[in-house]
Amino acid sequence: MNTLNLQLVNNPLQIAHAYYAALRKEVTEGNPWLTADEQRQLQSHYDVMMDAVHNPPELAAMIYSSRRAPAVRAIRESDNPIVFDAGCGYGSESFLFAALGAKVLAVDRSAEQIAIARKRQQYYENLFARPLAITFVNADLNRYTPQYTNLSLTWLASVLAAIPDQEGLLTRIHCATRDSGQIMITDMNLLNPLFLINEWRRRRRNLSASPEFARHANFAAMLRRKERTGARYFERADGTLVDDVQFFTTGTLSQLLRKVGFVPLRPAYSGWLPPRLYRPGFATVETAMNRVPVLRSLAYFYLVTGQKLPQ
Ligand SMILES: C[S@@+](CC[C@H](N)C(=O)[O-])C[C@H]1O[C@@H](n2cnc3c(N)ncnc32)[C@H](O)[C@@H]1O
Repeated sequence: MNTLNLQLVNNPLQIAHAYYAALRKEVTEGNPWLTADEQRQLQSHYDVMMDAVHNPPELAAMIYSSRRAPAVRAIRESDNPIVFDAGCGYGSESFLFAALGAKVLAVDRSAEQIAIARKRQQYYENLFARPLAITFVNADLNRYTPQYTNLSLTWLASVLAAIPDQEGLLTRIHCATRDSGQIMITDMNLLNPLFLINEWRRRRRNLSASPEFARHANFAAMLRRKERTGARYFERADGTLVDDVQFFTTGTLSQLLRKVGFVPLRPAYSGWLPPRLYRPGFATVETAMNRVPVLRSLAYFYLVTGQKLPQ
């Protein structure tokens, strides 16, 4: 296996881009430390990588790297970086952060995903030719308190919407963050028309699955974050759960961050082009859209950063 030294690359966007190429290779070509079943699970998490026809690899790489570049920059600019990867899933970003020299605490409630993440670590230690300082923990973030009190960065990617007590989690993270430390939250944007329609359709389909969900879930209340503190779950007849997740706009998320003590910074956005409309060379369109004030806030993904001011 060829090794990869991310410390030699200067630009955070290029670092995230180089890492994405390595991740894509592992997912699509195979990781020898995983069983065939585990590899399939990883592939189904990264369905975008597995369907290159509908998801042009160039676009996927650009969106992936622009969403991770702010975290890469923060880690490189931090002394003794300590990162909390909250809802780490299969651990991919933990490997990236640790490869940049961070000590990483990676937590997820799925024991299966944590087990696969632990097995993947060997692959990435070989790739980066160095040990990676990651502690993987299987726990429920709704109750979990980070075991460090000097976090330089918390990374929440596509997780917060699924947490029932969002304010409680963010408050515990704020307490565990060092002065001038940051939290970065990235997810799908409620203001993006494509996401909004798909989420509305998904909920329509679930109305018949759970009478409780049909009675209590209120799409408009979720949009306005009215009388809501986070995700709610309702049981189907077969015992599985229907989720009434609480997504955000950058406005409602910034408000919540302010409430728990973080100072929200200017949000970043990525992913304006629906994959089907993408053509090679459209990278400049993505970059240009980020400069148009109203249009930029309609992107598919946001990244909101909050900073803890020195007390
Ligand atoms: C969409 S995945 C995102 C994973 C990873 N952050 C990424 O960007 O690839 C959401 C993850 O959040 C985890 N999760 C959801 N609710 C959780 C909770 N209450 N406590 C811990 N993890 C949770 C799920 O198990 C899943 O791995």
